[in-house]
Amino acid sequence: MARRSFTIIFLLIQVFVAETSYSQNLRYSVVWKGDSVGHILANKYDSAEFDIYKINSEVRFWFFGTKTIRYNYKSVYKRDTLIKASTQYLRNGNLKAESTVSLNGRGYEVVVDGDYRLLTEPNPIDYSVTTIYHNEPNLVTSIFSERWGTVLSVRSPDPNHYFIEKPDGRSTEYFFENGICSKVIVDNFFATFIFERTELPMSEGTRIFSSIAEAHQALPLNSPKKLLLNGRSFCLVRTRDGIFATDNLCPHSKASLNEGLVNAYNEIICQLHEYRYDLHSGRESLQRCDDLRTFQIEIEDGGVFLVI
Ligand code: FES
Repeated sequence: MARRSFTIIFLLIQVFVAETSYSQNLRYSVVWKGDSVGHILANKYDSAEFDIYKINSEVRFWFFGTKTIRYNYKSVYKRDTLIKASTQYLRNGNLKAESTVSLNGRGYEVVVDGDYRLLTEPNPIDYSVTTIYHNEPNLVTSIFSERWGTVLSVRSPDPNHYFIEKPDGRSTEYFFENGICSKVIVDNFFATFIFERTELPMSEGTRIFSSIAEAHQALPLNSPKKLLLNGRSFCLVRTRDGIFATDNLCPHSKASLNEGLVNAYNEIICQLHEYRYDLHSGRESLQRCDDLRTFQIEIEDGGVFLVI
């Protein structure tokens, strides 16, 4: 395994916030026609209040031109109940599909590619596709899909081997070892992709905190901080949804985002002209300028890592 290169950055300690937390980060190599064409990161973060599941992927391949595909999925659970979720599918930087799910008093409000509907069954939702990488669907016959806003059927022909049937009639196969997803076979209309679990590429990450507790001390909630690393400036933000890293310069006119604010929608607001950027996707709320570049944060036993 590649040797780790650690750089420990100690930030100003302002407020100590003691929180119980746990994280599990899984990485998969995406294989297409025998070649590795990208990766998927499936991250689970449990805090005292919420369980947050995120899937971020980037795949690049040639199919009638170079295609760069990115998926950003996120689901938030509270006491084993899904309370909100979002998915985005981007091709060559352009948003091609998206969905949101939010729990209200009457059921789940689901918006899939602009179509709204209210889902009264199942309620509550306690298992969904975004969580599957971390939780084997033992004895499960249906699963909620955040992408499609509907329930999909699950069948298991062999132990630790499952098929999830998609609305387009195709299926995705999942294989598990020790309760963790080890391999996925995705059957798309134009190609079949295989996700194979790999070790996290520690050499690609720079350790910026030695523990999650230290990160919490250095990053007061919703208070952006500047991080200088190898001559480059990043903006670090901790919200109730987790820790985020972005470029520190606003894509609009290069103001420093660490001087901005964070709102309740998990957006960072530039102090100069008040453009708002989603901390997950980097997308400006009204798409008035280029996306803000975002970076993966990985939380492990050995610390908190920034993947550039
Ligand atoms: S410089 Fe950030 S919004 Fe204009």
